[in-house]
Amino acid sequence: MAPCRHCEEAQRADEAISTKETTMTDNAKQKILSFFRKNTEHYISGEEISSAMDVSRAYIWQYISKLREDGYEIDAVPHLGYKLRSAPDKLFEYEIKNGLKTRSIGGKAIHYHESISSTNNRAYELAEAGEPEGTMVIAESQTHGKGRIGRRWLSPKGVGIYMSIILRPDVETDEIPSVTLIVAGSIAKVINRTTGIDAKIKWPNDIVVKGKKLCGILTEIKAQPDMVDFLILGIGINVNTPAGKLPQGATSLKNETGASMDRARLARRILEEFEKDYNRFKQEGFSYLRNECKELSLTLNKKVRITEHHRVIKGTVVDMDGKGALIIEVENGKFQRIFSGDVVLCR
Ligand code: BTN
Repeated sequence: MAPCRHCEEAQRADEAISTKETTMTDNAKQKILSFFRKNTEHYISGEEISSAMDVSRAYIWQYISKLREDGYEIDAVPHLGYKLRSAPDKLFEYEIKNGLKTRSIGGKAIHYHESISSTNNRAYELAEAGEPEGTMVIAESQTHGKGRIGRRWLSPKGVGIYMSIILRPDVETDEIPSVTLIVAGSIAKVINRTTGIDAKIKWPNDIVVKGKKLCGILTEIKAQPDMVDFLILGIGINVNTPAGKLPQGATSLKNETGASMDRARLARRILEEFEKDYNRFKQEGFSYLRNECKELSLTLNKKVRITEHHRVIKGTVVDMDGKGALIIEVENGKFQRIFSGDVVLCR
């Protein structure tokens, strides 16, 4: 039996690929995937893809093999061509960028890792090396995921979103809490809109559902005495995490809704919402978003006990000010402004 065209192509691939073509970039994978995604009903021939991309069919074949290694199921039928049957649930750069409608946030490089110590640490290094605002680091798992106040963030493989975004806002250090609140608001809005659950912001940087933690945000900065050089927004979301892999007091979207979610799509929606909110913050300040954050707040009008460094403050949260700080009525007529701390709701 004569070998089919695709087999012949495969055999010739090694010889035929020029040096230029062996430079394997995610860009090429993204382009090939976008052809498939525009043609979900039909087979698309290697020739069509190769002439549209102005490269050889051998090059296309090699990338199809790479995509298969990445977990994409691609049907190949002699005389018809290729069709994408399924895509893996992965946070590859080209999955997140697939249809992403942002200019800066995630619109720059997305550094993808199967496993990394901490996405925040890597993003910090990249920021120090001069990477621009909007650059991201994202991972399937973290071996030393960091939480606030020296805590750990458990990051089991392939079920959560662990990502860090480099920001370079022109703000003073006392405006940092508002940036953290803005991203918390963007995440809560997207989660509520897409899942129908009622996620709330537990000031300053947790997102909780029915009292259980779904998402944590760790903001780290490099700053001069007053001005911020850069800021790393580290976001951890329990998406498809099974109950058995959640720490005590935590929940996941899957745990709440019973359904698994497409993590890349969720990440994309969050980046889009955050870019809108962040641009608004840069133009108008925190005032408009402050109202949204107050509406999403779990702590407003509640009695709380806040541990701030080594002091404990008890009182009722009466407001969130224009910088994102909490205003606590500690006793009759006396108020305190709290910039950060660990909040426990009192009965
Ligand atoms: C907290 O709630 O204490 C904050 C948790 C922040 C976890 C995220 S996961 C991605 C990024 N990388 C880290 O090491 N931590 C943050």
